[in-house]
Amino acid sequence: MAGQLSPIDKAKYAAARRAIDFVENGMRVGLGTGSTAAWMVRCLGTRVREGGLKITAVATSTRTAELARQVGIDVVELDEAGWLDLTIDGADEFDPELALIKGGGGALLQEKIVATASDRMIVITDIAKEVSVLGRFPLPVEVIPFGWKATRALIEETLAGLDVLGHEVTLRMDGDAPFRTDEGNLILDLALMRIGNPRQVSLVLNQIPGIVENGLFIDICDMVVIGNGDGRVELREAGTGKITHDQVDFAEADNLFRDLDA
Ligand code: A5P
Repeated sequence: MAGQLSPIDKAKYAAARRAIDFVENGMRVGLGTGSTAAWMVRCLGTRVREGGLKITAVATSTRTAELARQVGIDVVELDEAGWLDLTIDGADEFDPELALIKGGGGALLQEKIVATASDRMIVITDIAKEVSVLGRFPLPVEVIPFGWKATRALIEETLAGLDVLGHEVTLRMDGDAPFRTDEGNLILDLALMRIGNPRQVSLVLNQIPGIVENGLFIDICDMVVIGNGDGRVELREAGTGKITHDQVDFAEADNLFRDLDA
């Protein structure tokens, strides 16, 4: 069954499957958003339904909450769960320090709140998202709709003084209408190409009135699990830089793949 999946989906599955080994009975777990995180939610669902795993789960978007419920995971609000043990989420880019760009799926605000309310954040990804310097992926910034053009102008002015290569700021669209986040806000995508000092960019952007949050995750991720299409996974730890390798067996996921086909 796994043979029918694309290599990239296999890589995402492998990362997700290995990452859920860190989920233990009784944990409070943050569920990320995106296609890689969706594999993680499905894998966790299998453990909840078939393995009797008991967790308190908090979703980072309405679509993740919907998927979680579909696969048998009860979801509660973050304030009901309180502090979380672990959040597992995808990313759009990661650098050697395990700093991230997130928000390609538009859920960066809830993702950042949930990840920073967790003892530990594990990022699941494939190797294509590794960069030596962040910025190839446009940086998503969530802004409130009121006066968003003035906010965009201030962002453009601010970028001129920062160590970034590109300055283009684009309103994210969803068909003919502006994309709306779960909070009803807008997303501006900043094509920065190269972010020389991510920490400074993040701090400066968040000073601009109208910006709710930006997609730079710095000192938040504790481990990156990188999946490959052949089932190999690499686990990289922040801080120690420790790297370990492992192998995921696709055979155990046949039921999961079959359910997706049905
Ligand atoms: C959602 O807002 C994002 O932060 C996602 O986590 C990120 O875009 C990764 O998504 P994929 O796993 O679909 O690439």
